This record gives sequence, C-alpha cells and structure tokens, in this order.
Amino acid sequence: MNILAVYGSPNKHGNTATVTDAILTGLCKKNQVDRVYLYDKVFHDCLACEEAKEFHKEKYCQFDDDFTRELIPLINTADLIIISSPVWFGQITGTLKTFIDRWYTYIEDDFNIRILPGKKFITITSSAAPDDVFKSVSDYLNYWLTTFFKMEQIGSFHFGSMYESGLLKVDSQIVIDATNLGNSL
Ligand SMILES: Cc1cc2nc3c(=O)[nH]c(=O)nc-3n(C[C@H](O)[C@H](O)[C@H](O)COP(=O)(O)O)c2cc1C
Repeated sequence: MNILAVYGSPNKHGNTATVTDAILTGLCKKNQVDRVYLYDKVFHDCLACEEAKEFHKEKYCQFDDDFTRELIPLINTADLIIISSPVWFGQITGTLKTFIDRWYTYIEDDFNIRILPGKKFITITSSAAPDDVFKSVSDYLNYWLTTFFKMEQIGSFHFGSMYESGLLKVDSQIVIDATNLGNSL
C-alpha cells in the first residue's frame, strides 16, 4: 500500500503530527510511506482559471510548483492519504486549505471527480478548546473528502484541550488508538 501523510501544521513534532506518526508506526514496516510537511513546500493559491479544465487533462495545472511537481504524483499513487491540521481561528490551517483548493484539478466536467474516488483517508485535527467545540473542523474535512471527492474514510481523530503545540503525551489514549488503527491496516 502507498501511504501519503500530509502534515498541515508547521509543528513537525506537534499534537497532530504525533497522532499521524503514531498511525504510521506499524504501517512503515510493510508499506511505502511518503511524508509531506506542507509548510516546507511552496505552492500557489488556486486561481480557478477556466482554462484549467483543459490543462487538467494532461498537465493538471498551469502552475509549475511543488504541488504540481511533487504532490500530484504522490496523491495520484496513494492508496491511503492521512491529512492532519490544528484548528487555527476556527478552521484548518491556511496552507492546508490552499493544498485542498488545488484539488480543483481533479474535477472534470459535470463535477465528476477523477483519480481520487475510492482512495482511503484518515483525518486528524486538534484544538486548544475542549474536544466538542471545534469538531466542526473535523466534520468539514471528512465531508469534503467523502461526499465531494468520493474517498473512503477509515478513521478520524479530533481532540481538544491542547493549549499549545507539543502537549499531547505519547502514552495518551488517542496516541494508543492511533497506533492501534495503523497496526490494524
Ligand atoms: C495561529 C493559531 C490559531 C489558533 N486558533 C485556534 C482556535 O481558533 N481554536 C482553538 O481551540 N485553538 C486554536 N489554536 C491552538 C491549536 O489549534 C492547538 O494548540 C493545536 O493542538 C496545535 O496543534 P499542532 O501541535 O499540531 O500544531 C490556534 C493556534 C495558533 C498557532
């Protein structure tokens, strides 16, 4: 299985990265795993250009940037995509939103989606506020990946009360659950 882990936080050892890494612990041993730290990448905002509909077929996008060169090949070949983000001002981080906006390239005429349908995904979100306050952010990601992009959700973690990055303990229940999920795949 090809696994793509997309880190939507700039904190490489932060709360959401810790859960992502826990899922990957067991999976690394028997699968191809690619880790993408979005804050290390440089890519444009989607410009919603209509000519993109033609570009999509062969070149995916008129931009020649890290998204087009590096990330599209990884997305296209991934069987499982793990996407994580802290809650920033009530939403996913801006960089992760830009990353997902660029998925415009996967939309064909009549809103048919190419390549993505059937791929498995797991989302991870975390906030300073208690668990239930920003669960909408987790729901938002899961909604678009399932209902719009026709992917298959196989797990989702949302946890709160993380007042700052790096608070999540490696022996916490959520890390144990994430490790178990990874081992079960
Ligand atoms: C710029 C910024 C905005 C934030 N906005 C929120 C917010 O709106 N609600 C909230 O509960 N926590 C907010 N937080 C806290 C983070 O969501 C929280 O500490 C998260 O667990 C950090 O995850 P990470 O370690 O993976 O980056 C914010 C943090 C930063 C740096």
